[in-house]
Amino acid sequence: MKKKVLVTGSTGFIGSHTMIELLEGDDYEPIGIDNFSNSFPEVNERIKRITGKNFRHYNLDICRADDLENALKNEGEIFGIIHFAAFKSVGESCEKPDKYYINNLNGLVNMLEICKKLKIQKFIFSSSCSVYGNADHLPVTEQTPLKFAESPYAHTKSVGEEIIRQYARLFPQSDYILLRYFNPVGAHISAEIGEFPIQKPSNLFPVITQTAAGINELIVHGNDYPTRDGTCIRDYVHVSDIANAHVLALKYEVTEKKMPEIFNLGSGTGYTVMEVIKAFLNYTGQPLPYTIGPRRNGDVIAIYADNTKARKLLGWNCRYTLKDMIITAWNWQKNLLKKT
Ligand code: WQD
Repeated sequence: MKKKVLVTGSTGFIGSHTMIELLEGDDYEPIGIDNFSNSFPEVNERIKRITGKNFRHYNLDICRADDLENALKNEGEIFGIIHFAAFKSVGESCEKPDKYYINNLNGLVNMLEICKKLKIQKFIFSSSCSVYGNADHLPVTEQTPLKFAESPYAHTKSVGEEIIRQYARLFPQSDYILLRYFNPVGAHISAEIGEFPIQKPSNLFPVITQTAAGINELIVHGNDYPTRDGTCIRDYVHVSDIANAHVLALKYEVTEKKMPEIFNLGSGTGYTVMEVIKAFLNYTGQPLPYTIGPRRNGDVIAIYADNTKARKLLGWNCRYTLKDMIITAWNWQKNLLKKT
């Protein structure tokens, strides 16, 4: 009998790729929850087409606690929750902090209450490397002290982790696992799903692929940083590798029950913005015009992961290279253009 797993934000970028990993496995029955506030219903059809599997979906706003509880009360035993649903634009969060604090924290607390009331065994939280801020030492480990959050988005992740610490202490019957993503990029190998920005994207990879497709303009946000070529360093990791880590986390038994277990999900390699631009040109042969602009508020200079703990305790390994990330992102962009 497959174990039921609720996936909030199931039609989002990482959520949709995780739905595929779960559906293609033998152990879990994923149930999607998404109100499409930052994604498209069409994504569910594509997940079904890619996997050949059907699944149930609740079109629900997880900030509405009563709707959530009424919908789930007849679900019977649920093994786990993977909680992706949150707004995630660093820039937008600086313009509309209230939208981020209300949505991201309210949604999290409602899902933690569901976990408690329905006695769900695993709670996996989509956290972010942005909680580290401008770390003093690199690479960052899970023990690296968290610095000041450079945006309300990052703050909702660090506050979210603190809220989960309280629930773990008070209700230790569940396992709480915090997955700190570095920079998830790329797209599913089928080019049927990928990053589907509704508004103009702010992340580097979709801006690069849209610029190469002639529908955006790449501005490098500052080249005067104290790095090897003056541009910021990030740890890019393929979205399908991130998705795979969630399946492994469902199997993980937290050792110290009253504490959440934290894992860095990064490749362990940092690339500068200019190195990514050169790699795109090199791997696709596609012209990529760009200009150098001013620094962007909220950007940290450099961050990349020590992923030893995830490799050793989760058995997680990055299967995809920077070339795979670029090629799959570009294939997805070309497929998107065919459909518009
Ligand atoms: C990467 C680098 C930019 C766009 C954020 C979140 C993180 C995760 C990924 C959710 C930076 C530069 C970008 C552009 C540029 N979100 N850049 N021109 O800010 O590192 O991380 O998104 O999981 O939690 O914090 O990602 O891709 O926006 O930026 O020069 O048009 O690319 O300045 O140095 P970021 P990013």
